Amino acid sequence: MTETRFEGQVAVVTGAGGNPGLGRAHAMLLASRGAKVVVNDLGIGPDGRSVLPADPRAVVSEIEAAGGEAVADLHSVADEAGARAVIQTALDAWGRVDILVNNAGIGVVSGFDEIESTHLERVIGVHLMGSIWMCRAVWPHMRKAGYGRIVNTTSGGMWGMPGLTVYGTAKFGVYGLTRGLALEGGPYGIRVNAVSPGGVTNSFHHFYTIHDPEALQAFMGHQPAELVSPVVAYLAHRSCELTGGLFDSSGGTVTARLFGSTPGYSNPELTIEDVRDHLAEILDAGHLVIATDPRDAAETGNDEVVRILEPKPYQRL
Ligand SMILES: NC(=O)c1ccc[n+]([C@@H]2O[C@H](COP(=O)([O-])OP(=O)(O)OC[C@H]3O[C@@H](n4cnc5c(N)ncnc54)[C@H](O)[C@@H]3O)[C@@H](O)[C@H]2O)c1
Repeated sequence: MTETRFEGQVAVVTGAGGNPGLGRAHAMLLASRGAKVVVNDLGIGPDGRSVLPADPRAVVSEIEAAGGEAVADLHSVADEAGARAVIQTALDAWGRVDILVNNAGIGVVSGFDEIESTHLERVIGVHLMGSIWMCRAVWPHMRKAGYGRIVNTTSGGMWGMPGLTVYGTAKFGVYGLTRGLALEGGPYGIRVNAVSPGGVTNSFHHFYTIHDPEALQAFMGHQPAELVSPVVAYLAHRSCELTGGLFDSSGGTVTARLFGSTPGYSNPELTIEDVRDHLAEILDAGHLVIATDPRDAAETGNDEVVRILEPKPYQRL
């Protein structure tokens, strides 16, 4: 069986300075398979307060010690200039960028009305805006090259989890970004997917408690960050033509998250009472239409609209 290799490819992995950390694991796997890697990390740690250390230079040393090629980058992904500088690091070192893995993030566990406003903005700023700025920074280069692979990071928090409403909002936004860019990148050979990981990283004890010792041991033992990276690396490979997908990956299990809509109920003179009286039909998931590849409007459920709507040229605000 041929090995999946990345010779000649340049990858940028953001937030890859933590140990153990998902970003580090992705960077090390890509480098071990021949990619040249920009190991980016602002160094503030997943807690966002430098309580938990993160140093991309240490990860670069590990990659080099294993015979790989990497450079460290310490810019922030959370602002436009910083994101551009991260991509520039790759261009300065190797003149190209083929792969972008958006992984950088900070965690804040709190009630929706408990988190301070500035912290709320920081969470959105790193996860959602950071992914947007990084994709914007790399996009012209990938478009010009007619090739690119982007892997974004979401989270189970996007489905609603205690303490993670703001974070989950940002992560659902990252999925929206993934879908839209998958569509826009189609003609340019750019494929964009998202991974929702589960891995015991150095942030785990900082944010969570598992009281049951057996459950704790099982959780710690079965979810190394390294088991998420094969999914990320596969989606980053030239041979992967999937786009707009969302994959859950933890503990060696990979699943696809699919969105579906029900056939529903229609009435051209719809009333409030119709909605009330036909709720079972509206919610009936027996015949779901699954939205898969966003390049095919028939598969997203947007067929009718896309067929008749043509976007007008960009009008500045
Ligand atoms: N660990 C999990 O089980 C889990 C679950 C769901 C989602 N995630 C997501 O996976 C990603 C990685 O999580 P992790 O737990 O492995 O943490 P990690 O060790 O990869 O840490 C993230 C890194 O991002 C860096 N960072 C923060 N803000 C930055 C910025 N503005 N610019 C550059 N770097 C910045 C931090 O210094 C930290 O080292 C995050 O996006 C997280 O939300 C993780």
